[in-house]
Amino acid sequence: MLQAGRRNKVFWVVCRKILDERRTVFHVERMNILIVGSGGREHALAWKINQSPLVDTVWSAPGSPGLNEVGPCFDVKADDISSMVKLVEQLEPDLIVIGPEQPLAEGLADRIREIGFDVFGPSAAAAQIEASKGFSKDLMARCHVPTAAYKRVTTVADAKAFLDTLKPPFVLKADGLAAGKGVVIAKTRMEADVAAASMLGGQFGSASTELVIEEFMHGEEASVFVLTDGENFAVLPAAQDHKRAFDGDEGPNTGGMGAYAPAPIVTPDLMETVVQTVIQPTLQGMKADGCPFQGVLYVGLMLTEDGPKVVEYNCRFGDPECQVLMTGLEGDIVPLLLASATGGYSESDFARLYPEGGFKPSATVVMATKGYPGDYVKGSVISGVETANAKSGVKVFHAGTRIGDAGELQASGGRVINVTGTGDTLGQALANAYAGVDAIDWPEGFYRSDIGWRIQK
Ligand code: AMP
Ligand code: GLY
Repeated sequence: MLQAGRRNKVFWVVCRKILDERRTVFHVERMNILIVGSGGREHALAWKINQSPLVDTVWSAPGSPGLNEVGPCFDVKADDISSMVKLVEQLEPDLIVIGPEQPLAEGLADRIREIGFDVFGPSAAAAQIEASKGFSKDLMARCHVPTAAYKRVTTVADAKAFLDTLKPPFVLKADGLAAGKGVVIAKTRMEADVAAASMLGGQFGSASTELVIEEFMHGEEASVFVLTDGENFAVLPAAQDHKRAFDGDEGPNTGGMGAYAPAPIVTPDLMETVVQTVIQPTLQGMKADGCPFQGVLYVGLMLTEDGPKVVEYNCRFGDPECQVLMTGLEGDIVPLLLASATGGYSESDFARLYPEGGFKPSATVVMATKGYPGDYVKGSVISGVETANAKSGVKVFHAGTRIGDAGELQASGGRVINVTGTGDTLGQALANAYAGVDAIDWPEGFYRSDIGWRIQK
């Protein structure tokens, strides 16, 4: 018997051959796909994947009440690598899609590939592009990718010496993964010195024993997502997130309070510049270094007066950007995921840029528990999700929910639901998303009322 991974490749090659030759519907054994994760990003991925005619069942681990509506969930934590590998051996999925960065950085994709399964997600070596800021800055320097000037430091003396060369504000980054909290923008030199001492002194544990200090870049931010097998790639429409907690871009940084795509600021010409100056050199550089990147490369950009520059790379879809990409994409996502996982891209299959007209404007509003991103209380009851979902052009994704003893939907996290709208225009998509928000009854929640302010000017 063929191993599962091998069997999938044969299956996929046969499907493609038949499709290429006849372009007709044919009878095939459909695929079962396992999603690793439990957030709004994973719910959106599962929801989209489940619409594919190629797919039978979408499993998730650990899953959520939203994912449970798509398919069976298994109670295995995303970063419990050995239990997740055992689950894969039991279920024998045709494809595993890994959502969050932590299991990728810990080698889950490598372990799954070793036992012969197809997986959408980079190796631990390639995931360093997110897991080590120093690694990603050195890669950009080697490949001449435009980005902020920087220095890697491990002592306060070296930090101060480099800060002496910069003008305020100062940007200090923990080298390792710090749950999105490891970046400090210091307005004054005194703040920067205090932050350097505190971070190097163990503020983020082993993640901040090394820092990257960099020049501050001015401009608007946008995110570009690249599906790739390590060499060939397809670029999805650009998205814009809203990182601050409150309206007017005020308050603390969060994981993201809302997003939309396509971002009008990323014109086709600008996207072509990003492809040539960032995406191609990055993918070629990683391949040449012996760690090709397979999966989705998230390129965080600053659109400066001197052109687009990279703020950061991530080794996964953005959350909540993924939610707007999945609701916006009109075609089947599964062939793209499979091609990224198995190296199955061919020039005739996919345009390098996602074809215009294949994407519906889409926007999402994150509803969070009051207190987030600081302390908050779990267990408040949310109602109205079904009413919101019944509205035209609205889809609610679960990001941090659980089912209470009486069967009621409760908040169990900071970011809790993502109310997502699609429409013929971004304005319509935003109006639909907010119509969905109006249907939600959750006194303990809050949301930003100005998602999309940049495009409504
Ligand atoms: P990162 O985790 O590297 O994306 O940083 C988090 C946020 O800090 C980014 O989304 C930017 O808003 C900001 N940031 C990071 N690096 C810079 C920089 N060099 N210049 C200006 N803002 C930055
Ligand atoms: N929304 C930002 C991120 O996923 O990192």
